Amino acid sequence: MLVHVAFTPDEGGAAPTGIVIDVIRATSTMCQALSAGYERVFCTAEVEDARALRDRLGEGVLGGERNAVRIPGFDLGNSPREYLEPAASTLVLSTTNGTRAVVAAAERCERVLVASLLNLEAVVEETRSAGDDAIVVCAGVQGTLALDDAYVAGRIVELLGWGRTDAAEAAARLAGTWGGAEEALRVSKSGRNLLENAPELEEDITFCARESVLEVVPRLVELRDGAAEISA
Ligand code: MLT
Repeated sequence: MLVHVAFTPDEGGAAPTGIVIDVIRATSTMCQALSAGYERVFCTAEVEDARALRDRLGEGVLGGERNAVRIPGFDLGNSPREYLEPAASTLVLSTTNGTRAVVAAAERCERVLVASLLNLEAVVEETRSAGDDAIVVCAGVQGTLALDDAYVAGRIVELLGWGRTDAAEAAARLAGTWGGAEEALRVSKSGRNLLENAPELEEDITFCARESVLEVVPRLVELRDGAAEISA
């Protein structure tokens, strides 16, 4: 089996299993929400698409961020700590990079899994069980590599223990250069964005840096009208 890493969603490369990462914070939030009891999360790239979808569904809460803070008129932001208890059964989520990375992976992979550090071992186990080559799709920051996602990609590559493309090898080597997850998350562009735009949410970094504390493996149910529905 072979694993590849796309450091941004627009990079080339394809495999039957896609593993999406936006560790600060969208995929951490999705994992936390589904683990806490939300039944489904709809990922939309655009804010207006999220509002329209919630109106069409006639139920659910709207969550997400722009510049790290809650979108005006939305019920919740993108802090995983806001999702410790379900506020509804459906969450419609729109974030700057993470939700569009899920949509991008849904457009090119047969199966899509959602990864974070919170569910690291569970997602690696599920990838192994799927028994197909995999591509790790990092959300990055506005089309550029982000060290936090690259770190998690490297951890997945190491734990899988499969054959590696050069990009996967690079991610694994990079992950080995930090003393641990929190260090990698703090130095990344995503971590610095969060601290600059919403310093009151600094605790989110420590929360997202916890490894393998959730069993949940969110996966794509369907992509319809540009919205990716995921569920545990
Ligand atoms: C994103 O999608 O870019 C994020 O998850 C940003 C954040 O909320 O920290």
